[in-house]
Amino acid sequence: MNPNYQTQPDSLKGRVILVTGAGSGLGREAAIAYARHGATVALLGRNETKLDAIYDEILAIDGPEPAMFPFDLEAADDSGFERLAGTISYHLKRLDGILHSAASFFSLTPLNQQTLAQWNSMLKVNLAAPFALTRACLPMLEASPDASVIFTGETHGHKPAAYWGGYAVSKSGLEALTTIFGQELERLPNIRINTLIPGPVNSPLRRKTHPGEDPGSLPQPDDLLPWYLWLMGPDSRDVRGKTIECTL
Ligand SMILES: NC(=O)c1ccc[n+]([C@@H]2O[C@H](COP(=O)([O-])OP(=O)(O)OC[C@H]3O[C@@H](n4cnc5c(N)ncnc54)[C@H](OP(=O)(O)O)[C@@H]3O)[C@@H](O)[C@H]2O)c1
Repeated sequence: MNPNYQTQPDSLKGRVILVTGAGSGLGREAAIAYARHGATVALLGRNETKLDAIYDEILAIDGPEPAMFPFDLEAADDSGFERLAGTISYHLKRLDGILHSAASFFSLTPLNQQTLAQWNSMLKVNLAAPFALTRACLPMLEASPDASVIFTGETHGHKPAAYWGGYAVSKSGLEALTTIFGQELERLPNIRINTLIPGPVNSPLRRKTHPGEDPGSLPQPDDLLPWYLWLMGPDSRDVRGKTIECTL
């Protein structure tokens, strides 16, 4: 993709897009951008107050009225994901895309200081939940003329490094999941699944991974919106099963 990519103002008109981790950072910016380009967004996160704020912001820019789904990806089991998909189907009638942006992260530490409870959280929120939620939503995605699912990867998932531990392992698994889904869904040209690696971005999560860093020295979430719009929209229709790194 050309980093100066610009899409039509109504490129996502009529689409319904679910965004996890919509309360902050990249998920928040992408959800607002999708609404600005005409999509009805389903906002998912644990914190209802944060979702309320995005809801108001979308109405303030005259975007289609969003739907809010306060939901804990770590606590959900198969039936919880099925119920969530059923609720989306009941209220919004269709689904044309999912941006999986939610993430669990604790701290950068050597493996011998990481706990099983932390690993379970990171593997569940960052890897198993994107799988289970996508699977639960597949019937709706199959019915869409052009469905795009975006997993959010990580540079250290692509190239693991010391201290990134369970977070890197969970993100690495997303790349495998992308390849496997890509091959299994080859027979469905209307559904594409890819992993997008944002690279360093100023966000609440980045302040946890790099607490001493000057946030002003980093790209801001809206700098990456061309990538998020391109991969969700019709111009990336032929891109499937790929891991893509954002470059600025
Ligand atoms: N920032 C970077 O430099 C960077 C670099 C590479 C990759 N990424 C990836 O980009 C994505 C977005 O990260 P970000 O930087 O924008 O961080 P962020 O602002 O901390 O966003 C993460 C979101 O995940 C949600 N979340 C966490 N646990 C959840 C759970 N159990 N159930 C539902 N939602 C949950 C949080 O919302 P609630 O607390 O409201 O639930 C939060 O809004 C992540 O996948 C991250 O791994 C970020």
